[in-house]
Amino acid sequence: MINIALDGPAGSGKSTVAKIIAKDLDILYLDTGAMYRACGLKCKKEGVSVKDEEKVRPIIENIDLKIEYKDGAQVTVLDGVDVSSEIRKPEISMLASDVSALKCVRLKMVEMQRKIAGKMDCVLDGRDIGSFVLPKAEYKYYVTADSKIRAERRYKELTERGETVDFDALHEEIKRRDYNDSHRDFAPLTKAADAKVIDTSEMTARQVADTIISDVKKG
Ligand code: DC
Repeated sequence: MINIALDGPAGSGKSTVAKIIAKDLDILYLDTGAMYRACGLKCKKEGVSVKDEEKVRPIIENIDLKIEYKDGAQVTVLDGVDVSSEIRKPEISMLASDVSALKCVRLKMVEMQRKIAGKMDCVLDGRDIGSFVLPKAEYKYYVTADSKIRAERRYKELTERGETVDFDALHEEIKRRDYNDSHRDFAPLTKAADAKVIDTSEMTARQVADTIISDVKKG
């Protein structure tokens, strides 16, 4: 069983890299951030503050969230509806970061992630995969880059998708999320002690993926 844990802050290139790895190695890609984004969206739809754990708990306990695959791509299905595009909106990013700080949310999502990873070869990207979700994963990487470069990547991704975004606001949001994600009490964003660090600031996604793929092929 191959489990590749790919952690790092927002915009570090994890998802692009993970998709290349999954395709080249013909394994599954699980985008765990999409799951927290769906939790944030669900709370928004229910009109509940993502900081109110007592109100969030029953919603997440009963959440109808499914991860499906269509033509090799992950489809995030909430209450029977494909929300894959909706959860990418910048307004959902901070909601996801806040809701993901709640222990009840993490425990539920981590249980789903472990079930998927236990069944098949896969690469998972997130914040706590190597440190908490799959501490025994054989391959662990922590990818990072300067926050301005990460904001530039997000800016390009969003504008290419037709979204109107303010660069400075995006950069601030990335820095706020970095702080939020790495300072929560439970399973924060952190480099697992045995993870290899890759600074992607000067690398293309292809180069990062090739570094990981050759490492995995070495066994
Ligand atoms: O990777 P992303 O930007 O889609 O993730 C959205 C938020 O979800 C991120 O700010 C923190 C949270 N997250 C997390 O806490 N743990 C994960 N494994 C993945 C994401």
